[in-house]
Amino acid sequence: MSVKRITAAGVVFCMCLQLLCACGEKQAEGTDKICAGVAYYNQSDTFLNQLIDSLKEYLHDYEKEGYETTMLIRDAAGSQRTQNDQVKELIDAGCNVLCVNLVDRSDPSEIIDLARDNDVPIIFFNREPVAEDMLQWDRLYYVGAAAEQSGIMQGELAVELIRSRPQTDRNRDGKIQYVVLEGEAGHQDAIIRTENVVNTLKSNEIEIEKLSYGIANWNRAQAENRMLQMISQHQSKIELVLANNDDMALGAIDAYEKLNYTESALPLFLGIDGTREGLEAVIEGKLAGTVYNDKEGQAEAMAKIAVAAVSGEGMEKIEFDKDRCIYLPYFKVTKEMAEDMLREKDQP
Ligand code: GAL
Ligand code: CA
Repeated sequence: MSVKRITAAGVVFCMCLQLLCACGEKQAEGTDKICAGVAYYNQSDTFLNQLIDSLKEYLHDYEKEGYETTMLIRDAAGSQRTQNDQVKELIDAGCNVLCVNLVDRSDPSEIIDLARDNDVPIIFFNREPVAEDMLQWDRLYYVGAAAEQSGIMQGELAVELIRSRPQTDRNRDGKIQYVVLEGEAGHQDAIIRTENVVNTLKSNEIEIEKLSYGIANWNRAQAENRMLQMISQHQSKIELVLANNDDMALGAIDAYEKLNYTESALPLFLGIDGTREGLEAVIEGKLAGTVYNDKEGQAEAMAKIAVAAVSGEGMEKIEFDKDRCIYLPYFKVTKEMAEDMLREKDQP
């Protein structure tokens, strides 16, 4: 064997050893040693990184109650096949509960089979499996948020802003020309948010005209590119940018900054999530508003279910919205609230 090969084999062996040691041997049900395996679709997603940081904290808090906690995290980099392998790896490493943010929310069967064969419960989060898949096993849970509500709230924010700032209708034709930046095609939050924000504007009798839309997969850089294309098509006609999340709204703002638009020529930008960067942009007045996607509430619920599922205690006290699913409410963020929220987060 060449030196290179021996070294490579050594590295693989050490990685396996590390994995095996991470959670130790498989724990019997009813244990106070929680080893959570977290698998998520893409590490470039701002909201999810912040949600997982929060999950780490909530799980760690259970140490005060006498639990031992470990968390292993895997990034699928956008591949469902990679994620299936990672779930197997996490189970082999001794994880006794899984938190899975599916890459393809319509394709969880392999993961469910693996988990059921090893009797490891799964808490799906943020990317919701379809109802039939949730029925495949009674140790499957889901934690997320009610997408419809976020679209309605974004619409209400837009209505309030348009009514209070008549200058939004820059060409004074009585209509608001708008574009939408959408998340991934097929994602429950993208479809439902877009539908509901538009319907809310219409039901409040705001005359709107859709100029264009771009799919930017929740991503700031992709949104900047899509926005640059839309600006080159419609120039200063765009009066409102509705983004399915904050990162894409920030990407749209980046595009206008790149083109040196003056403030009076800018459209209104609205996001969803209330990420740190989103809240900062609301405070600076760049983002007209956002809707808070309660990642702390979601992380807290996930940690609670994880501990109950592994320890066998307390599941009956958890309030589910429907069978084994929890949907945390959204709320609208004003500038004053954004300031308070960031101040609170910065406190040690
Ligand atoms: C949404 C969130 C987006 C993105 C997406 C990933 O709920 O608003 O920013 O994180 O989930 O599935
Ligand atoms: Ca107009």
